[in-house]
Amino acid sequence: MQTNVSEPAVKADLTFNGGASTQPSTEPDTWFWKRLKLRGQIAGYRIFCYLMNHMLLFKLFFAVLRRMRPLALIGNTLWVTKADDIREVMSRFDDFLLGESIEPGMPWGQFMMTIDWREQHALERAMLQSVVNPAADVRTLHAIAADECRKQADLASGRIDVIAGIAEPVAVRIAADYFGVPPLGGSAHRMADAMADLSGLVLLQPPVNSQPWASSREYIAGVTKAILARIAERKAAIAQGDASLPDDLLTRLVRKLGDSKLPPWFGEDWVRRYLSGLMSTGGATIVRAAAHAIDQLLEHPEGLQQAKVVAAQLDQAPGDPKLTAQLRQLIYEALRQRPMLPMMVRTCPRDTVVAAGTKRARVVPGGSHVILAALGAMLDPETVESPSEFRAGRPDDVYLLFGYGLRECFGRYVAESALIEIIRCVVQLPGLARAPGSAGSIKYVGVAPRSLTVTFTAPGARSAA
Ligand code: HEM
Repeated sequence: MQTNVSEPAVKADLTFNGGASTQPSTEPDTWFWKRLKLRGQIAGYRIFCYLMNHMLLFKLFFAVLRRMRPLALIGNTLWVTKADDIREVMSRFDDFLLGESIEPGMPWGQFMMTIDWREQHALERAMLQSVVNPAADVRTLHAIAADECRKQADLASGRIDVIAGIAEPVAVRIAADYFGVPPLGGSAHRMADAMADLSGLVLLQPPVNSQPWASSREYIAGVTKAILARIAERKAAIAQGDASLPDDLLTRLVRKLGDSKLPPWFGEDWVRRYLSGLMSTGGATIVRAAAHAIDQLLEHPEGLQQAKVVAAQLDQAPGDPKLTAQLRQLIYEALRQRPMLPMMVRTCPRDTVVAAGTKRARVVPGGSHVILAALGAMLDPETVESPSEFRAGRPDDVYLLFGYGLRECFGRYVAESALIEIIRCVVQLPGLARAPGSAGSIKYVGVAPRSLTVTFTAPGARSAA
């Protein structure tokens, strides 16, 4: 499927009914039948959320598939559990599409993730990339995240919910100060709720007409209004020659709006859609990854100890590239066991072959769904030595955390900057341990982690560098 970009730009429909089918249905149209169907869908959604969050059953299932049939066609779905095959599928942009599966989850309109037309995807991705200043932005992001971590940790004494108390405030600050999208109604808590809800749409869409679906629509409408208001505000300020505007992504994009040399698909609506997309892909993903990384460091004391040592060295040499890379690798190693995204999806528009020329080669019929089990591949003993052990210094190609190829995570630099500062802050809380009881485990709403409480011995917290 190619996305038709010559269609009039999607308007900001603030009711966001996307995903609700408009096709005539042959099913019975009774209230009872609809309720029954919705209940079934909600039960299925809850089970899938559980599997996506706790991952043990997926680990077992993927291990069996990897051994018995690494490319397994079950019904209409191809399950891919080997790293080489996952990379092959991800690098065949035109043969394995993403947009079709996730478009219904993105009711605010076309975004780079929903574009399956290679050339247009490249153009739109490059447009967004053109407002990123890689080195300077990474420094800014580290500074924003470190500042928020220090503020939040300094408020704590002996006990802190690292999600509501640290990771969410960092994500909300990045949205406000780097993306340029202010908290809804000025409330950081409301914004964290909105981000958690939006993440569901990208990671696992709730059933149409369920309560989480309805509330995600409400939040998208709120976020869209906030983005539109901010765009109007910035346009007016730029027209008046205001030189004091903050240097965030939204402002940089609005500054481009008047440029007549830019292509016709770029305009105010594009800026709205891409800011909505960044909010949805870039808010709760950071929170979910931070939660999983902290959980796994607590689970692996040897990893936690190594992270503490590197974090303390980074305090002495802030920004040191070697130490930063070491801490990043420890975070990757933690996420290998419990990634933010255990699998990715594609659809296959026409018959093709995967792993051609190998013993496991498989014909994939057109119309199949494809599940890329990154979690399974990162635990493959054939490519990862002693995969259940926590080991520092594994090579980078062991990790499939941020995708691969033309769709590799756009916001990786944002996520890594935030994660490094969050982990640097948390691991240095003296005497860090899980809080007793259920508070010490991650609690999710849908697929969004909403709490994980830790204890530490000293009142207050470390002073960040
Ligand atoms: C630790 C946090 C994050 C993880 C683990 C992560 C992971 C991923 C993965 C695996 C993909 C590829 C999806 C696929 O091929 O199906 C992806 C794509 C993407 N990510 Fe992230 N992500 C994170 C944070 C972010 C952030 C903070 C942003 C925005 C600032 C972002 C924006 C995107 C976008 C726009 C794409 C689509 C790229 C394209 O289609 O060209 N992500 N991410």
